[in-house]
Amino acid sequence: LEADLFTFKGFTLARVAIKTDHLEKLDDLEIRDDDVFIVTYPKSGTVWSKQILSLIYFEEHRTRTAHLDTIYRVPFLEYCIGKEDLGERPSPRLFNTHLPYYLVPRGLKDKKAKVVYLYRNPKDVLCSYFHFIKMYAVFKAGDTMEEFMKQFLEGKVQGGLWFDHIRGWYEHRSHFNIQFMAYEEMKKDLRSSVLKLCKFLGKDLSGEAVDDVVRQATFESMKDDPLANYENVLNTRVGVTRREGHFLRKGTIGDWKNHMTVEQNERFDKIFQNQMKDFPLPFIWD
Ligand code: PPS
Repeated sequence: LEADLFTFKGFTLARVAIKTDHLEKLDDLEIRDDDVFIVTYPKSGTVWSKQILSLIYFEEHRTRTAHLDTIYRVPFLEYCIGKEDLGERPSPRLFNTHLPYYLVPRGLKDKKAKVVYLYRNPKDVLCSYFHFIKMYAVFKAGDTMEEFMKQFLEGKVQGGLWFDHIRGWYEHRSHFNIQFMAYEEMKKDLRSSVLKLCKFLGKDLSGEAVDDVVRQATFESMKDDPLANYENVLNTRVGVTRREGHFLRKGTIGDWKNHMTVEQNERFDKIFQNQMKDFPLPFIWD
């Protein structure tokens, strides 16, 4: 593994903003019935879903009276970004995590608190990830897509092997109160996706409130929104320096076609078909 990464109980994390004693204690975090956990493999729509869920839950964010960055509205379970104690947070609590199914607090298995697992087609994940590691000085960037693709396919990135992450969560879905959602389905019809999430979360919003959520969760409005676009918060709070590019980079489906060669794509397809055969969740590639 590169020096910017380490493994904890078989799972690969970035060293930045990590405290091992915090990780050790996560299993014991007391879970409340109205907690919600967003679970993602990196680069699958994490910030987007943080924004959407916080807008669904908190009127003061919908009306923009609270002025709190999404990174604090929905704290990371494993990365210590704020100083707050997660256990002390007032309800309703929203969290997000990249952790695999076996490292989340065991109280989630009571199946009362809800889990939203957001996934994205892995070629776009790869492509988004390739740009992400180039963007921040803290990560050792593979210079080429070829180098990074090898790293990604060996799971030598924060989040581990993509195939293990999604399969693990899917195969253990009966242990959790979990809803799977695709990035692409949100991209193609954001309003229907917001309504689907509201239904799962038991939130009955007015049509106007739903419109507010949708308006503030499009790529364009998040890109212009300093509370949602991560432009400054990662430098100032997480201590990672941005060297080039933007966190909200493109936000599209199928950008992999612009970054993978025909040969890389065929190689990827073979591995995907082999690893994901019989996997029932649908994937949208373009
Ligand atoms: S991270 O580092 O794991 O938290 O990254 P994550 O937030 O999961 O993924 C970043 C990608 O999500 C895109 N994004 C969006 N797409 C569409 N609509 C909206 N509103 C939106 N917000 C974020 C972001 O642009 C990254 O994808 P790419 O393909 O690199 O643009």
